[in-house]
Amino acid sequence: MLSEKSTATVRATLPAVGAAIGDITELFYTKLFEAHPELLRDLFNRGNQAAGLQKQALAGSIAAFAAHLMERPDTRPDVMLHRIAHKHASLGVTRAQYPVVRTHLFAAIAEVLGEAVTPEVAEAWDEVYWLMANALVAIEERLYEGARVAAGDVWREWTVTDRTEETADCATFRLAPADGAPAPDFAPGQYVSVQVTLADGARQIRQYSLSSAPGSPVRAITVKRVHGPAAAGPDGEVSGHLHAHVRPGDRLRVSVPYGDLVLRDTTAPLLLASAGIGCTPMLSMLEHLADTGHDGPVTVVHADRSPADHALAADHRALAGKLAGPEALFWYEEAPEPGDRAGRVDLTDVHVAPGTRVYLCGPLPFMRAVREQLLAKGVAAADLHYEVFGPDLWLAAG
Ligand SMILES: Cc1cc2nc3c(=O)[nH]c(=O)nc-3n(C[C@H](O)[C@H](O)[C@H](O)COP(=O)(O)OP(=O)(O)OC[C@H]3O[C@@H](n4cnc5c(N)ncnc54)[C@H](O)[C@@H]3O)c2cc1C
Ligand code: HEM
Repeated sequence: MLSEKSTATVRATLPAVGAAIGDITELFYTKLFEAHPELLRDLFNRGNQAAGLQKQALAGSIAAFAAHLMERPDTRPDVMLHRIAHKHASLGVTRAQYPVVRTHLFAAIAEVLGEAVTPEVAEAWDEVYWLMANALVAIEERLYEGARVAAGDVWREWTVTDRTEETADCATFRLAPADGAPAPDFAPGQYVSVQVTLADGARQIRQYSLSSAPGSPVRAITVKRVHGPAAAGPDGEVSGHLHAHVRPGDRLRVSVPYGDLVLRDTTAPLLLASAGIGCTPMLSMLEHLADTGHDGPVTVVHADRSPADHALAADHRALAGKLAGPEALFWYEEAPEPGDRAGRVDLTDVHVAPGTRVYLCGPLPFMRAVREQLLAKGVAAADLHYEVFGPDLWLAAG
């Protein structure tokens, strides 16, 4: 809990810090990467840095944490903290790195806010920083312990046993631990980080949801190659590398699985809604439900540009068919087949049973639209769980 003295100072300065937090984090990253270029090369996602996305996520989370301390001082924003900690754990972030981030963050705060940062103000925000950092470290250390690895030691070599082209832009890579050890456990919905060495020597990391079920002897990831429309940005670095260079027999550096969007055991009605490559965690969940003989009602909703763009479509349909309905609904913007729906997801005539738990994954506009439709149908906000395939900009929005 924040001390009384710091609470008053943070309350008084939150609007000024909040208004400048974009500039602060921008300068923070400049300073951090000037002092530690290896962090931009081998840890942070330089695509996100270039596009400004990670900056917004970090800024949003600190502002949200401080606001939470003001509004509900006796509780912690656990959803946000767990979301960040799982991402950090999948990257091998350790306690020793937090003072480095703190040094450059506070240098940036002092430079942007100037004389407004009195020793009292600096002390109060230092307290906020360490409250958040220590909460994250505690969760991260529990996650490392749970995976039975030393703090930060998450990386293992895996062999690509098989590669399948799913669509023109999606490929599934099946993986087995290179040392023959059993693959680590995971829960359906979780992801791994994959680190690849690019042509310029940078070792960039991205996350990929496991698209196979936990019971399966191999692990599978399904990767969509990201094309950067020339005007908006370059082609995706890691997805492009995996598609162009990685073949059966190759090795990949893969993390222990993490991720807080997991399918909890339940007999409640389930609705699994995805769009595009957001189907990957849903496939793992559906396979798990089929493997474990789940007999509760499961509704499957998926949206894609066209049937030809729908990665893992045959498995998606087959698994949905194996489960106890009531419905599997597929929307395609182009060339829907008989029995499918045309256009964008519209749940108007879809029955959503009371108490339904929803798992969502896809682009933000899709998730926003589906979330609103489901809330209007009476689904409780607490029963809506989601995964974002990028920095979670919903965190800041609460
Ligand atoms: C939890 C989680 C699970 C995920 N699961 C999956 C999955 O199962 N399957 C899957 O395919 N993906 C998944 N992703 C997404 C994946 O991690 C990568 O984000 C994706 O593969 C793109 O990475 P990339 O290196 O190819 O692209 P990047 O190089 O990171 O580029 C991403 C975007 O940024 C733009 N960009 C890059 N540099 C610049 C610049 N200089 N200026 C402007 N724009 C720029 C690019 O044009 C591109 O549009 C997941 C992500 C998360 C967080
Ligand atoms: C209190 C301190 C910190 C806060 C508030 C914080 C916050 C965040 C947030 C909000 C995200 C995005 C989560 C998501 O993807 O949804 C993130 C990701 C990340 N964080 Fe932290 N973080 C902190 C400390 C650190 C430290 C010490 C390191 C290691 C040097 C670190 C490295 C990273 C990396 C590499 C990512 C992923 C970035 C990307 O892929 O673009 N963070 N952090």
